[in-house]
Parts: sequence; C-alpha cells; structure tokens
Amino acid sequence: MSRPQGEKTRRRFGGTTSARSAMGGECESPSRRAWTESISSMKLTRLALFMAAMMSSAFATISLASDDAGTEVASPIYGITIPKGYRHWELVAPSHVPGFDELRAILGNELAIKAYRDGTLPFPDGTVIAKLSWKHVPSTEFNGVFSPGPATSVQFMVKDPKKYASTGGWGFGKFIDGKPTGEEEHKACFACHEAHAHGHDFVFTHFAP
Ligand code: HEC
Repeated sequence: MSRPQGEKTRRRFGGTTSARSAMGGECESPSRRAWTESISSMKLTRLALFMAAMMSSAFATISLASDDAGTEVASPIYGITIPKGYRHWELVAPSHVPGFDELRAILGNELAIKAYRDGTLPFPDGTVIAKLSWKHVPSTEFNGVFSPGPATSVQFMVKDPKKYASTGGWGFGKFIDGKPTGEEEHKACFACHEAHAHGHDFVFTHFAP
C-alpha cells in the first residue's frame, strides 16, 4: 500500500521540478506556455468552485429561513427543527460508545467551531452542535473493517440562554428519519448532560486536535 503512495509523491515532485525549470526559461517556451495555461485554468476552476460554494450557501440560508417558518416538525418540549445545511458543518470530533452498534460524529455550526477553537465557555447564543449516528456495519471491501451504514439518528443542542434558561441555556432535539422522537426521551436529555458535563457547559464532546 505504501509503495504506490511513494511513487505518487515522487511523480508529483517530478512535476514540480519540471514546472520550476520551465518557469526559469528566458523565453516563452511551449512548456512554459502550457504550464501558465494550466495554472490559469486551475484558477478559473477554483473561482468557479468558490462561486458555486457562495451560491449554495446563499440557498442554504434561504431554505433555513423557510424552515424557520415552521415547515418541519419540531422536537417536543424545546421546539427545535433540523437546521438546513448542518451536513456541511465542520467536524468537532468523532465519538464511540461501546455497547451502541453505531459510529458517530459531532459537528458544529460556525459559532460552535469558533467557540471551540477559542476555548470560549459558555458557548455563545446561536451555537448549534449536531450529533450524527450511523449503523456500524462490516465493510464489504475489507474484512474486519467497519463502516457507517444507514443513519440511525441526528441530534441537536441549540444555545439560546433566554429561551432555554431552565436547561442550562440549551434546547434539545432528536430526530429519526427526519421526525422528532417522543417527549419522554426529550425529558431525559438535559438531566444526563447536566449530571455529567456541567463543567463544560453541559457539552460532553471536546474538540479533536
Ligand atoms: C444517558 C445520558 C445521555 C442522555 C439521556 C442524552 N445524552 Fe446527549 N450525549 C451523551 C454523551 C455521553 C455524549 C457524548 C458522546 C456520544 O454520545 O457520542 C452526548 C453527546 C450529545 C451531543 C453532542 C454534544 C455533546 O454534548 O457532546 C448532542 C447534540 C446530544 N448529545 C444531544 C442529546 C439529545 C437531543 C438528547 C435527548 C433526546 C440527549 N443528548 C440525551 C449523553 C446523553
């Protein structure tokens, strides 16, 4: 496995060296022209990607606004809906709980990630932390490896110190197949987070370096 990678690296270095010597040439050699053209097409591709990203984030904001208008079913007690675009948030850390046949990842919105990186506690108003879980299934490609299977649930903690004053400033929502789970389950959320994670603003997960 390591040999093909080494070869790839060597090939890449080879490419860089010849590009550099092409640049060093005094006149516009054909190889230099090709190199310049490929750089400018790379720039164009990046620009196109950047524009596509800007447009999709603009759309995400628009659809989030329409969700806020109540198009999705909200969690009991807290009234939390699934925030649009959460699947594009940055990873805080993976997590593994023995006994649960799942693979999990904790993601955060921009405010969450900034607070994590700056070490800000308590998390600011508007922070949203998501926990994604998948079934833990044997890989079909490699014996002994487990991969994420179908999604089992997605859970959110939303910081709004005024609205959720009685639960440490956090609102909770757990969804299976896009639908919120029952009230009993939601009654248990804060109790457990309060009992075990009160020293870290009721959030268990720490940022993975
Ligand atoms: C019995 C304890 C317990 C209960 C009940 C519980 N959680 Fe958690 N929660 C945890 C633990 C432990 C973690 C961190 C590890 C993990 O689960 O992957 C966690 C992590 C989270 C995270 C990621 C942020 C963090 O704190 O690390 C979210 C979001 C979350 N839980 C939401 C909920 C919601 C919503 C409910 C209720 C529907 C709930 N939790 C109920 C124990 C609990």
